[in-house]
Amino acid sequence: MSRLPASLQVLGVISLLVCLGLLYTYLNTLPQTGRKLRVRPKYTYASEQQPEHAEVGGALLTTPKSSLHPASSPRSSPSQTGASPRMAKYCDPPFTGQEGEAPPGYQLEAVTTVIRHGDRSPVYSLYNYPTPKLSCLSEKQLFQENSKFQSFLPTMWSYRGREHGTSKFKQWMLYPSSSVCDSGQMTGYGSLQHLKIGKHLANTYLHKWQLFGEEFSADQVYVSSTEFSRTYQSAVAFLFGFLPTFNLTELYIEQTRSMVFCSDQYSGLTCHCPVLQDLKVSADRNSGLLLRNDSRYTAMRSQLANTLDVKVGKLRHLFALVDALSAYSCHKLALPCGPTKCITPDMIEDIWGFLDKSEKEKYKTDLFQQFIHLSLHSLLLRISDHFNNLLRGRTKVRFSLFSGHDHTVNFLSGVLGINKGVWPSFASRVIIELYSKNAGNRRKHFFLRFLFNGKDLTSKTSFCENDLVNGMCKLEALERFIKTHLLQNGIHDISLLCNQGNRSL
Ligand SMILES: *[C@@H]1O[C@H](CO)[C@@H](O)[C@H](O)[C@H]1NC(C)=O
Ligand SMILES: *[C@@H]1O[C@H](CO)[C@@H](O)[C@H](O)[C@H]1NC(C)=O
Repeated sequence: MSRLPASLQVLGVISLLVCLGLLYTYLNTLPQTGRKLRVRPKYTYASEQQPEHAEVGGALLTTPKSSLHPASSPRSSPSQTGASPRMAKYCDPPFTGQEGEAPPGYQLEAVTTVIRHGDRSPVYSLYNYPTPKLSCLSEKQLFQENSKFQSFLPTMWSYRGREHGTSKFKQWMLYPSSSVCDSGQMTGYGSLQHLKIGKHLANTYLHKWQLFGEEFSADQVYVSSTEFSRTYQSAVAFLFGFLPTFNLTELYIEQTRSMVFCSDQYSGLTCHCPVLQDLKVSADRNSGLLLRNDSRYTAMRSQLANTLDVKVGKLRHLFALVDALSAYSCHKLALPCGPTKCITPDMIEDIWGFLDKSEKEKYKTDLFQQFIHLSLHSLLLRISDHFNNLLRGRTKVRFSLFSGHDHTVNFLSGVLGINKGVWPSFASRVIIELYSKNAGNRRKHFFLRFLFNGKDLTSKTSFCENDLVNGMCKLEALERFIKTHLLQNGIHDISLLCNQGNRSL
């Protein structure tokens, strides 16, 4: 009877040692980074990392306009587009959802929203198959659904050059406007996706809940965006769809260089943490190793290489394949063909299957958990500090928007436990809602709801289990989680880890 637990214990200790050993090895192979070399954590975010070029002007116009593919035209159903069902889910987020569906007796106090930018051109291409030329123009026909959307482009024109005085985004257009998409540029359809989400949220937060009270003022929102045009343009479209009055002269959109919205202001945390990069690389490498021995995976790659008539070794990693193929699937284009065969929706479904599987496996690893918890700690603190400041009357901000990337949304939802490795679609959203409830004697209790792409997943969070009331999570549960999650993931001292060499984890 007692032998089993003992052997399990030994097993546990061994795997812990192996993990630590692996980590130690990786940390020791780090290049020595001098203090001066420390940069903000712009991790190698392969999927979203491509630099962007100025979007104004037609420098890229090498193809006659008539041959451009209408990236920005509305899509028909997946079966007609040749998209696999999984790819169709990646192309579009749900435009409705359970946001704002709190039981009676509660009052909505604040909302924090973290988004991924809308539909964009790929950053990867298939070897020997150049990315089809997509249009990154915002065509008027796209925005006809209702009078609000119809006024989107004219309003954007009227704010050209009239952004907030200290805006750092003045070099970007307010909406996609290049005839040919450069790598990783948002399409007009991407703007439409965020307009729709903004409108959906306005229906609940503004019309049902009156989140901003009687009269809206710009200091009731906080907006931050990474420095890319696609995240800025996503924030702009989202806000246009959402806000009761949109005045870009009054609205300050903060720019961050951190993909995970790390801010040094919070509790003396360091955002300069070279260890993060190595944790991520190790986690990615390990998940790649898992697949390599899977014969069905090898067969899939051979079939793909055979279809495209390229060497298997020329095919890139799974997300690169998915990203390259999204150019076709998300834009109603015929799938690429080799000399004799064409890529089929079934093959794309297959690739997605392996990507989902390996991401789910990666999510379960200690390395990845450490990476996301460390990366997201600052943002979690910001969110909870903001809620507390609001409840103490120290800020007027009732709506916060963080406009980021697939990784931003993926890591945050991962840390919260509401998404365990599903690659977020374009225009994905993580939403945290703060509610109050009168508790007598002028006292109030505070509760949270956590949503991912419109689904209420509060009960799935990793920390609310014992703090659920009417399906809502006590605010204290989040605060307790933020105080303990690093330790629970084996991180004892974040600043030591990030500041003083890299060997203290
Ligand atoms: C936007 O705000 C600016 C600065 O407060 C103001 O001058 C301008 O009239 C406003 N625009 C609109 C359309 O309300
Ligand atoms: C994969 O297979 C090779 C050779 O068969 C083996 O040495 C290796 O340990 C396997 N790797 C994993 C992660 O299972």
